[in-house]
Amino acid sequence: MRTLIQGGTIVTATDSFVGDVLVDGEEVAQLGVALDSQGTDVVDATGCLVMPGLIDSHTHLDMPFAGTRTADDFDTGTAAAAAGGTTCIVDFARQVDGSLQKGLDTWMAKAYGKAHIDYGFHLVITEPTDAALSEMKAVVAEGVSTFKLFMAYKRELMVTDAGMLAVLDRTRESGGLVLVHAENGDMVDFNVARALAAGDVSPRFHALTRPEAVEAEATSRAIRLAKQAQRPLFVVHVTCEAALREIQAARDEGLPIYGETCVHYLVLTVDELARPGFEGAKYVCSPPLRSAKEHDVLWSGLRQQALGCITTDHCPFDFEQKQMGRGDFSKIPNGMPGIESRLSILFDRGVRRSKLTINELVRATSTEPARIFGLAPRKGTIAPGSHADIVVFDPELEVTISAETHHMNVDYSVFEGFVCRGAPRIVFSRGEIIYKEGELMSVPGRGRYVKRTLFEPAFLETAMEAR
Ligand code: URP
Ligand code: ZN
Ligand code: ZN
Repeated sequence: MRTLIQGGTIVTATDSFVGDVLVDGEEVAQLGVALDSQGTDVVDATGCLVMPGLIDSHTHLDMPFAGTRTADDFDTGTAAAAAGGTTCIVDFARQVDGSLQKGLDTWMAKAYGKAHIDYGFHLVITEPTDAALSEMKAVVAEGVSTFKLFMAYKRELMVTDAGMLAVLDRTRESGGLVLVHAENGDMVDFNVARALAAGDVSPRFHALTRPEAVEAEATSRAIRLAKQAQRPLFVVHVTCEAALREIQAARDEGLPIYGETCVHYLVLTVDELARPGFEGAKYVCSPPLRSAKEHDVLWSGLRQQALGCITTDHCPFDFEQKQMGRGDFSKIPNGMPGIESRLSILFDRGVRRSKLTINELVRATSTEPARIFGLAPRKGTIAPGSHADIVVFDPELEVTISAETHHMNVDYSVFEGFVCRGAPRIVFSRGEIIYKEGELMSVPGRGRYVKRTLFEPAFLETAMEAR
């Protein structure tokens, strides 16, 4: 089947031009002006932006966490992603019974038959034993080219510095990029115990016990560990200037350090946690939301590419699940829903307000994640031979974000009432229309597992030798 997406403004990370995209089967066949429409289904994209499908490299679907489980599985979560213009995710699988392979098999089974869009997995290592380390090479061969380490969530996910060094060091042999959740778990535990002892139990104390220094210290330490191991590092969900400075300084030294922020850190503030009743619990995530002054710092970090990616860290819990932390904020399951709303929010609050250009938006939500996480050249751009993962985005279509209309399986939206000008009209995944004018058109199970390739920064040797 051939489709001609006609007359839109084709946007990549580097260019914007009015033209046509010819899709043949699952791939983009040609880009050009006034392409022949004979024998094709024509999609009129006049007035619309024709962008590569978004990649969300930070999601937590069907994940056991904090004594409960995230509310979206691979069916509902990826359906919601599709409705928002996301055509590929990289979710976090976790070591199971000490085994990486078992973790990968477990997450493969969760996704199989359910996913609406293509998916890959990072592997979270919680117990870096010799046995686990020896499995790294095998999972890389299966397309898991990234390993994630948590420096917080003691007793559940956190690893020691020794464990981090062991994993970083092993990637020299296995290949693979290490991702890190950078918060100092000991500082958090100390602060939490003190707050609870003082009777400070409401949601806002979640943020007060995890100040910027908690994040900055861990970011700095992780970078130093990566530097000693002479390996690259990717810092997930950066929220503030103090942490960003550490990344920027390392990059200024020439070190291969990469960073990500998430939509909520760009548009929400810590004030949400003080909402009346227990409403603030909906906004509990880690690291926590910060003050409004950090927004511009993060936008600027994106423009300068110290932060390469904007993800969602989609980790949804119903309000009922959040009740686990009534009377003790430390028991509130951490995480927020967001997989569906990323593009409209970034366009309205980012591009419309001159925080990013449309090309920078494409770079941070598609091209750069594809490059760093080993999905390029099939994903992350619109070019001959790439997967026809394409969003026809109407910059004038106004939407109001609401739990009443979203597809996520969660009973609130942290962006409730946000009015955004700009929304997807049609979403293609490998040439197939999976969302059109408000209607999901895909079936569970059509999404495929994507084997990812290794990312080895070219300047690594030189930068490290200079030390
Ligand atoms: O609060 C968050 N971010 N929950 C999800 C797990 C994580 O830390 O990424
Ligand atoms: Zn995290
Ligand atoms: Zn996360």
